[in-house]
Amino acid sequence: MLESQPADLAPYWMPFTANRDFKANPRLLVSAEGMYYRDVHGNSVLDGAAGLWCVPLGHAQPKIVQAVQTMVAQLDFAPSFQMGHPAAFELAERLDQYTNKRFGKFFYTNSGSEAVDTALKIALAYHRARGDAARTRLIGRERGYHGVGFGGMSVGGIAGNRKTFGSLLPGVDHLPHTHNLEQNSYSRGEPEWGSHLADELERIVALHDASTIAAVIVEPVAGSTGVLVPPKGYLKRLREICTKHGILLIFDEVITGFGRLTTPFAFDYFDVEPDMVTTAKGLTNGTVPMGAVFVKQRIHDAFMYGPAGIELFHGYTYSGHPLACAAGLATLEVFEEQKVLEHARGMAGYWEEAVHSLKGLPHVVDLRSIGLIAGIELAPIAGKPGARAFEAFKRAFEQGVLIRVTGDIIALSPPLILEKKHVDELFGKLRDILKTLP
Ligand SMILES: Cc1ncc(COP(=O)(O)O)c(C=O)c1O
Repeated sequence: MLESQPADLAPYWMPFTANRDFKANPRLLVSAEGMYYRDVHGNSVLDGAAGLWCVPLGHAQPKIVQAVQTMVAQLDFAPSFQMGHPAAFELAERLDQYTNKRFGKFFYTNSGSEAVDTALKIALAYHRARGDAARTRLIGRERGYHGVGFGGMSVGGIAGNRKTFGSLLPGVDHLPHTHNLEQNSYSRGEPEWGSHLADELERIVALHDASTIAAVIVEPVAGSTGVLVPPKGYLKRLREICTKHGILLIFDEVITGFGRLTTPFAFDYFDVEPDMVTTAKGLTNGTVPMGAVFVKQRIHDAFMYGPAGIELFHGYTYSGHPLACAAGLATLEVFEEQKVLEHARGMAGYWEEAVHSLKGLPHVVDLRSIGLIAGIELAPIAGKPGARAFEAFKRAFEQGVLIRVTGDIIALSPPLILEKKHVDELFGKLRDILKTLP
């Protein structure tokens, strides 16, 4: 069943896909192992995107496969309301250790979007629980992506994701994004210019008054809008302003969590302590859908003084699904046993050099890198924004590499287990593609 092209592609309405274009020329993956996918024609495809930022440990990681297989045979499903199963508690305990007990509480969801909406709801309910119910405003950032729930869309800053869905949540404001090619092009790691953009939060506070603002949510590195790395000092400044005004700071680490920057989380890399962290993807190495919100103990505890009974009226049927918990536990084990972060750190320099070696190739207007991420920004074809990078994506797939594109930016985020030979293959092919793009 998995090996051949389905007879009819029409019934499946594909997400975030140019359906008509795809169905005229489908790209179908049938298996995956380590750094490679295999497509329906038997071609191997080097994974330059960790699927969709999901697979830090590479595909079909044996320990994870085994853990999920064992769990599905033992406990296929367990209700999560007023019930539990040991693996859900074990995973939370392991996450607590993995985050050096800096949060203390872990709430499970099934996706990044749900993690974001959960964190926003916890922020609102937390202030109310403390008797500060006027704090209802949520602040996001232009060019931020926080998934596709109504909360995430509302704090998100991507016009295409917002414009067709009505007026979204009320009481939302946005910080400016930090992307500036005139100031920061070809940066390695955090760019020098732009920490003052965090002070825009003071302007928003002056406009609305701090007493009305519940939370600020940002991606430490914005991924979906093309690898926007925060300027030096920017996140620390946001933290200071939030603390000063009693506003919760949420880091959306759905892509930066679990090693992408070669540290466990981006908050480790930037040495900034958020109040909540949203995660998904790498949490289970992408094997079974799962998200989680890391919540500071004091936020959780504010809910524990109310009347007896359910403290937070929120949750999902599949919160803490046994298969996801098994995958999550195995993922954390592999991270430690195989010293994946050490390996990633060892690769980061080689990666950075490879990224910046593309300087001067046709259409390239910026290259930026941090950890094992790269953004390759191309000049758009006049009147056809996004067309050039999309063509690069299609050609790359034909030539056996999976890349991700957003607008005219190529975003690379390979599995962290990659070796130098994979970097060479990826950039060798990209180099050829860039030379021949329209
Ligand atoms: C930063 C961020 N937040 C949230 C999401 C949404 O996650 P999901 O697609 O699992 O709902 C994504 C997805 O890419 C993301 O990058």
